Amino acid sequence: MLEVLGVKKKYKNGIEALKGVSLKIETGKKVAIFGENGAGKTTLLKIIATFLLPDEGTVTLEGVNIIKNNKYARKNITISTGMERSFYYRLTVKQNLEFFGMLNGLVGKELKKKVEKVIEKTGLEEYGKIRYMELSKGLKRRLDIARALLKEAKVYIFDEPCAGIDIKTRGGIHKIVNELGKEKIVIFATHEIEDLKKMDRIIAIHNGIKVGELLVHENRDCVENFVKGVC
Ligand SMILES: Nc1ncnc2c1ncn2[C@@H]1O[C@H](COP(=O)(O)OP(=O)(O)OP(=O)(O)O)[C@@H](O)[C@H]1O
Ligand SMILES: [Mg+2]
Repeated sequence: MLEVLGVKKKYKNGIEALKGVSLKIETGKKVAIFGENGAGKTTLLKIIATFLLPDEGTVTLEGVNIIKNNKYARKNITISTGMERSFYYRLTVKQNLEFFGMLNGLVGKELKKKVEKVIEKTGLEEYGKIRYMELSKGLKRRLDIARALLKEAKVYIFDEPCAGIDIKTRGGIHKIVNELGKEKIVIFATHEIEDLKKMDRIIAIHNGIKVGELLVHENRDCVENFVKGVC
């Protein structure tokens, strides 16, 4: 169980990105975080991934306060943010993955196997030897997802993973998410109705506040109306 309790975040420029957000996500669930541009989704995801510290509130994973226990958080939480600057431009797809795999403690055969596995999962087989700077936007996004999959985590966070992705690859991402969602906690920020319908639950954020939740399986026909109602 991941529990976010009363999380607040104000940036240095005075913007209050989160004004007291609380939510709970059980293991074996995939949850969408939905909200318009600037709603606070990425801020919330970065706090859960311990990339950012909240001003107030706590985040616990299986009862462990992850804000105070950074090591536990880094071991058990993985995030795909789509931040291009976090890759080595001159290294190939494979070299980038090998580097980040090593940072996750993988070496030798285990590292090679894992890199091959995530390349296959994200359909990057043909691009292993291509340098990061030579990849298209969608392929960069896929590599970012592949990197997040290098870790055997309890929580997988995807910040708009389908942005700029073609239909076929989108299907592949949902397959990965579905698989992970059976045993892990998946948090998936998105604006897309089609993505929302594939989740177990939708949590809507507006202006730094949680404004609604919807259980998708019981209310599949209501997703459109739910979305219209909160934005
Ligand atoms: N590093 C930062 N410094 C200052 N303000 C920021 C920073 N990052 C985000 N903000 C502001 O915080 C608010 C929430 O931003 P956030 O990126 O969390 O929104 P979001 O819901 O992810 O939006 P989007 O759908 O566009 O990705 C916005 O008003 C944004 O301008
Ligand atoms: Mg965002």
